[in-house]
Amino acid sequence: MQDIAYLDQLAAKRHALQELWGAALPEELLADYTVAPAVEPFGYRLRMDYVCSDDRFGLRVRKRFYAIVDLQECHLIPPSLFPLLRTVYTAARELGIPDYNVYHNTGFLRYLVVRRNVRDEWLLSFVTSEQAYEAQMDAVAEAARTAGAASVWWLLNPRHADLSFGEPVKHWGAAHLPQYVLGRTLLMGPNTFFQNNVRGFEQILSYMTPFVAGADRLIDLYAGVGTIGICLAEHVGQVFAAELSDESVELAQRNIHLNRLDERVSVVRSDVAAVLDDARLARGSGNDVLIVDPPRAGLGPEVCGLLRERGPQRIVYVSCNALTQVVDYELLRERYDLVAARGFDLFPQTYHCEHVVVLERKAIA
Ligand SMILES: C[S@@+](CC[C@H](N)C(=O)[O-])C[C@H]1O[C@@H](n2cnc3c(N)ncnc32)[C@H](O)[C@@H]1O
Repeated sequence: MQDIAYLDQLAAKRHALQELWGAALPEELLADYTVAPAVEPFGYRLRMDYVCSDDRFGLRVRKRFYAIVDLQECHLIPPSLFPLLRTVYTAARELGIPDYNVYHNTGFLRYLVVRRNVRDEWLLSFVTSEQAYEAQMDAVAEAARTAGAASVWWLLNPRHADLSFGEPVKHWGAAHLPQYVLGRTLLMGPNTFFQNNVRGFEQILSYMTPFVAGADRLIDLYAGVGTIGICLAEHVGQVFAAELSDESVELAQRNIHLNRLDERVSVVRSDVAAVLDDARLARGSGNDVLIVDPPRAGLGPEVCGLLRERGPQRIVYVSCNALTQVVDYELLRERYDLVAARGFDLFPQTYHCEHVVVLERKAIA
């Protein structure tokens, strides 16, 4: 959406979200409904996945999967970073490292993925289709370190599925990159989820705070490396977090320790449905707050069914896909009232928007 003035982008997102949620929002919420503007309209992203294909280094053309725009600059990360990444790609090609053809599924180097922190330190991952060109990979990792990468990872994705994640082969430099959120330090790894716009996400954490403050127990589901639970821990008694990915759970445990929260925050590796099935988390004290922050697919009918049956008094639902969030809400509304809703433009220049709703269990249920 870079060709659209930012305030018009914001108005379009607000209009779309209001259309989507209008019927669900009580009148008093509709009157106040807002989408918080981006803190930084450009250069905000903390992760970018650049395709390496047929001598092109860049991004796909919207809706044309095989067409790659060979980028010379990128406005979604700080302007000084992109040229460094391009230099690394050029070094890889000059070292004889072939890139990848998605159409024929041939070649080697599929993606260069950069993750940076708010202090502009960065981690670079090379995603390749096989484990080969070992000497050249050592040399290009060295080039990346010289360009400024604090951490370099080699990830393997031998499957046809076009994923920019993979099995770690090796790394050079630091294994993890620290991220800084509301005064907390959180380690992220090459494959772990992390919020892509920390300054924007800090606004969401502040918005959520009054809805969780004073809870005896905060249950943080889809917890990633523990960001939400760790950042809100000071406002609640205990935090209980659950996450499916091994790599994320391992880092969540380290992050809890790093922030000296071992006494108050715990994390388990578990599917969300299994956690909600657990009797320990069944509705009890009436003072639990549950946070859900699922992937784009949303919660789905099984999790919504469990929440209808045994969900806590309050649910704060953070979503990067309001389309699935509204479908989930339809499954929950029999037992929950919508008491607050707000959009947060964490993804300016794109069609995406973060959306938070707060649900309160109906008195009669
Ligand atoms: C949108 S991210 C949110 C992460 C975290 N709340 C944060 O703020 O960084 C969704 C997370 O849910 C995890 N996940 C996906 N499906 C899951 C499931 N069925 N059970 C538990 N975690 C799941 C993913 O691994 C990912 O870390």
